[in-house]
Amino acid sequence: MYDNNPTLTGLNKTMDESRQGEVFFEEVPNDGKRRFYIESYGCQMNFSDSEIVASILADSGFAPTRNLEMADLILINTCSIREKAEETVRKRLREFDKVKQQRPETMVGVLGCMAERLKTRFLEEEKLVDMVVGPDAYRDLPKLLEVVEDGDKGVNVFLSKEETYADISPMRLDSNGVTAFISIMRGCDNMCSFCVVPFTRGRERSRDCFSIVAEATDLFERGYREVTLLGQNVDSYKWENPETGQVVNFAQLLEMVAMVNPDLRVRFSTSHPKDITDEVLHTMARHENICKYIHLPVQSGNSRILKLMNRTYDREWYMDRVRAIYRIIPDCAISSDIIAGFCSETEEEHQDTLSMIEWANYSMSYMFFYSERPGTLAARKLKDDVPEEVKKRRLQEIVRLQNQVSYKHNQADIGKTFKVLIEGDSKRSDREFKGRNSQNKMVVFPKKAGLKPGDYVQVKIESATSATLKGYIVEN
Ligand code: SAH
Ligand code: SF4
Ligand code: F3S
Repeated sequence: MYDNNPTLTGLNKTMDESRQGEVFFEEVPNDGKRRFYIESYGCQMNFSDSEIVASILADSGFAPTRNLEMADLILINTCSIREKAEETVRKRLREFDKVKQQRPETMVGVLGCMAERLKTRFLEEEKLVDMVVGPDAYRDLPKLLEVVEDGDKGVNVFLSKEETYADISPMRLDSNGVTAFISIMRGCDNMCSFCVVPFTRGRERSRDCFSIVAEATDLFERGYREVTLLGQNVDSYKWENPETGQVVNFAQLLEMVAMVNPDLRVRFSTSHPKDITDEVLHTMARHENICKYIHLPVQSGNSRILKLMNRTYDREWYMDRVRAIYRIIPDCAISSDIIAGFCSETEEEHQDTLSMIEWANYSMSYMFFYSERPGTLAARKLKDDVPEEVKKRRLQEIVRLQNQVSYKHNQADIGKTFKVLIEGDSKRSDREFKGRNSQNKMVVFPKKAGLKPGDYVQVKIESATSATLKGYIVEN
């Protein structure tokens, strides 16, 4: 559920670290409105939540700004997944403190997973923070702002069993006008022993499927051409219609969204190896516009470690799912998340992770070394006993191998022609477009007159690195 960018990230550098501080949206003309500035860290769900927050704030008379100095309200949507993610947030808060010292009336609010994890402790640790708001309490923001304006601290960290923000139309902040995220569920009921998410996001709940289809339809009508359905474990999506009692599962939801329009691409993230069904795979195979790409985090290639991680599958089960994917959708790309140096991992067990990378032929992976999180099962029951330098060395080996596998994966695309959705100018040149193929690979190619972001083109691949395919338009 992280960056769309298939660039193989460096050592432990993930979306939480790579996109920090970026706030993209148009400055609106000065209309006397109060301004909010929002920064997001962590997974795509957090970015998606920030768009809900923006919509709630807009309804209570705030306008967005990308200029920190202009803001009456500074918000930071935080991540707790690894220690480093939290350090980044604290560093950023120091910088907000400076703004606040110059303009004491500026309000500073902490949102998201770190707010939920630390609750009121945040106010003790970070004196200049005015507001602490957990992921299920964003509707309460206008009220909490009043509390702050009255000179108190605003805190709401209640987790809900029902909240899905289904009726709130997100304000698209980081928008290229072509691709958008749609949250389809919240929370997580799995208890992977390393993971803090169940504690920061609460119980799993699925959003009304009709509100999801309505949001996709609205996006399509506004020119968007790709939606990514988001959840920590999308395969366990399950929504019961309170009127008819009819139950909709993920495969059915996927089909409903795919039917919005054949020109609307559908992606999803994250799939859990224990829950992904053949029904989902057959649905993907049936619809050209459901992208042939599955993010299927393995975490470790070794069954003993998987058991300690409480992932509830073993190596054999995972391999069976990968075989099913390649059998039912032969042109599917698979990516992964990998943790190096989990509690008691031996050198041999680490080798099992390396061999899995090659065997599964991941197009890319997000790779991390294990970071113990307070309160998790692993922190309570297992010893974080792999020395840091060993964790880092194993991670390096994983990164190096994944780089080679990605390179080969991309080299194998040379000579093929892909349908690419244009997203905008390439990073390097405004004479080139960038876009993605169905397999989620970034493709760069020279522009041609009359084409614009949101158009589909056929691109023939001429060369490839481990991160990008390069080619030229063959027809449009
Ligand atoms: N719901 C998703 C994962 C969300 S967290 C899933 O089950 O796949 C994103 C990734 O962060 C995880 O897949 C895992 O690889 C990594 N991660 C989570 N907790 C971690 C920890 N304590 N240390 C290192 N990496 C961690
Ligand atoms: Fe965390 Fe596991 Fe839930 Fe993913 S499935 S969010 S790793 S507990
Ligand atoms: Fe996402 Fe980080 Fe929270 S990965 S769910 S923002 S802990």
